[in-house]
Amino acid sequence: MDQAISLKEMMNKKFIKSDMDVNQNRVKVISVTSGKGGVGKTNVVVNLALSLTKLGKRVLVLDADMGLGNLDVMLGLTPVYNLHHVINGEIGISDVITKGPGGMMILPASSGVQELSELTPTQKLNLLTEFDKIDDSIDIMLIDTAAGISSNVMYFNTAAQDIIVVASPEPTSLTDAYAVMKVLHTQYGESHFKLLVNMVNDSSEGKDVYRKLSTAADRFLNISIDYLGYVLKDKHVVLSVMEQRPVLDLYPWSNASKCFIELAKKISEWPVNTHLKGNIQFMWKRLMGQTDWSKI
Ligand SMILES: Nc1ncnc2c1ncn2[C@@H]1O[C@H](COP(=O)(O)OP(=O)(O)OP(=O)(O)O)[C@@H](O)[C@H]1O
Ligand SMILES: [Mg+2]
Repeated sequence: MDQAISLKEMMNKKFIKSDMDVNQNRVKVISVTSGKGGVGKTNVVVNLALSLTKLGKRVLVLDADMGLGNLDVMLGLTPVYNLHHVINGEIGISDVITKGPGGMMILPASSGVQELSELTPTQKLNLLTEFDKIDDSIDIMLIDTAAGISSNVMYFNTAAQDIIVVASPEPTSLTDAYAVMKVLHTQYGESHFKLLVNMVNDSSEGKDVYRKLSTAADRFLNISIDYLGYVLKDKHVVLSVMEQRPVLDLYPWSNASKCFIELAKKISEWPVNTHLKGNIQFMWKRLMGQTDWSKI
């Protein structure tokens, strides 16, 4: 009860930032998604995060691949706490965030969007209040989603400002990438995507995949796809996964690492899409759905 009163006071004092205030914190929220599994999302997230930290960005990685937790496996981390503990008020957000290579911050989500939308207003406010505390210490948030078109994955994508779709040159990966964009467009109103082609033999193979996908999208869907770039197929990636280290850390001179450095430069130069969607708090508000704050 006491907690409810103090939370209500916080709301009255506008402790929780409004969407307009939030827009002034220029955090980029970017989701990394795919239709087909195993195309390299987690690897992309980990190495982009590390490249971005090398460019001086403060990066928070949200492991939204609920249940599988392959991000911590890829980095050899064993987080004890996750977002669930924050929601229950057991610990603060900074105790859940694990430090990874290059100082990247890693937040294990653990719970699905369904659970987030079913929280009580007090629990939701708890979460927003905790995010308010870290808002100013982040420049870029990367969300590692699961593969496919489950509503959980879709919601994480719609809450992000930019959606990076990862595809490989395999035909099934192409059709699945198309399917993801189609669902995000027809059911969730998303119409801008960035394509990253992973595991290519050379740069022309990446452009070829982009051409095929954007031609189909132009003909059948009213969406725009930007070509973000490619990552070369490189055995050093496989070796680094075995070592549970980012390839950029272990083999910084490898072909794949060079691609990640290029991609990170591009991303760091993107303008923040603030007029479309806000940042972290906005994202969580969106994930948690409509809330009647008077019920606190
Ligand atoms: N550029 C690359 N070159 C060579 N192998 C790669 C490359 N990128 C990824 N891989 C291989 O593909 C595997 C799967 O990558 P990753 O786990 O990142 O995919 P994912 O899309 O996150 O999978 P999931 O859908 O299961 O979450 C890696 O373990 C690695 O062996
Ligand atoms: Mg993954």
